[in-house]
Amino acid sequence: MATNGSDLGVLLQLCEKELESSMLPAAVFSNDEVFAAEMKNIFGRNWVFLGHVSEIPNTGDYVLRRIGLDPVIVVRDDSGEIIVMSNYCRHRGTELCQSDQGNAETFTCPYHGWIYKKNGDWLSAPHVSQAYKELDPKQWGLAKVPHVGVHQGMIFANVSPDAKPLLEELGGAAWFLDALFGLHPDGMRVMGPPDRWRVQTDWKSGAEQFGGDNYHVESAHISLDDIGILQSAREMYKINAQYAVGNGHIFTGHNFVKWFGADWDMWGYPKDLVDKFDLTVLDQAQRDMLASETPVVGTIFPNMSYLRFPGSPDPGVQPFATYTSIRQWQPVAPGVMELWSWQFTWNAASDEYSEQCYVAGQNAFSASGMFEQDDTVVWEGVAKLARSVFPGGDIALNYQLGFEGMSENPIDPHWKGPGVSRLSGIGEQNQRSFYQRWLREMQAS
Ligand code: FES
Ligand code: FE
Repeated sequence: MATNGSDLGVLLQLCEKELESSMLPAAVFSNDEVFAAEMKNIFGRNWVFLGHVSEIPNTGDYVLRRIGLDPVIVVRDDSGEIIVMSNYCRHRGTELCQSDQGNAETFTCPYHGWIYKKNGDWLSAPHVSQAYKELDPKQWGLAKVPHVGVHQGMIFANVSPDAKPLLEELGGAAWFLDALFGLHPDGMRVMGPPDRWRVQTDWKSGAEQFGGDNYHVESAHISLDDIGILQSAREMYKINAQYAVGNGHIFTGHNFVKWFGADWDMWGYPKDLVDKFDLTVLDQAQRDMLASETPVVGTIFPNMSYLRFPGSPDPGVQPFATYTSIRQWQPVAPGVMELWSWQFTWNAASDEYSEQCYVAGQNAFSASGMFEQDDTVVWEGVAKLARSVFPGGDIALNYQLGFEGMSENPIDPHWKGPGVSRLSGIGEQNQRSFYQRWLREMQAS
């Protein structure tokens, strides 16, 4: 029995066996050993999203973020370089910086007052000439994350000294980020700090859903169809594509033109904004994708997802505004996560349109968002099942949509982008791809 508290190796062997039939034991969604191994094997060895360059545009700007459970300071130093460093003081381990964001010349520890330069180097301490006559400042700086990378403004870091290059790891996901965030040379910016709220479920529940769960929309969100906010939800599966692009990175596209009509290409952005985009920086396969099954949600392994969708700042009233948000599924404890959500806008967009996008995005996906509440409440069950006495956390969950002839989920023969595209929303190839990567990382020694 691979229930909670059993040997991790036995549970991972069960995962391997069940994944061969596209199933997964529920125990992985709240298990102490699984969670501890995830912190080490997944968050301790992979590139993790930390934020956007527009959050720290100036020297000394910083934000507090997390890699797994570890708090880090993401700061822009005097040379303009982005540095990511541990937020634990080297004296007694106190959490050094206590503000979520700001601008700092130095960081001073609240416990005994050790002072660090903005780049993490040890600088001084109270009574330094009497207290630390022999202290070597070079030994006592903050621990720095060895690998930091930026792609399309997104900041990633990897705490492993043996990290592969970011672009190699992103692979096909970089191609998607280019098609999503590289449409204008001025790029996008955050519209404020991330909203954060706690959800009583595992971080993987959000990551898998945002990477490819089209099947839930006409059930979990049907009340939004009933009141006219989400249209034709029961037909949506016909206009979907699922992109599994390698390394567990997974995306979903919608053909808005087929769904809503000719005016709805390019996510329904207004024409004056689309005219400012420079599609010549994209390759033909990217342009074809934007003109057909435009990518609307996706997950970059392990815990970064995005949304770009037309919504209304005033539900039921036209025109729509197309919001872009990045979200992160932050692990907190077995069966508990924090959801972090940033709203973005194009620097080339008007202030008025940006504000409409922000409101539309918050209406749909935020702590009180209409879609968000539908999603988060249904995710809580699996974290309880994972620890249940009956039927037991080792019970298998079903990921078999589109698996070996189970349902009509054809491969798109015309797809020229990375990985595999399947047409129709009745499939779970993306979730399988995510969990295959998850298992590889968990079993790697
Ligand atoms: Fe930071 Fe003592 S713990 S100065
Ligand atoms: Fe949903």
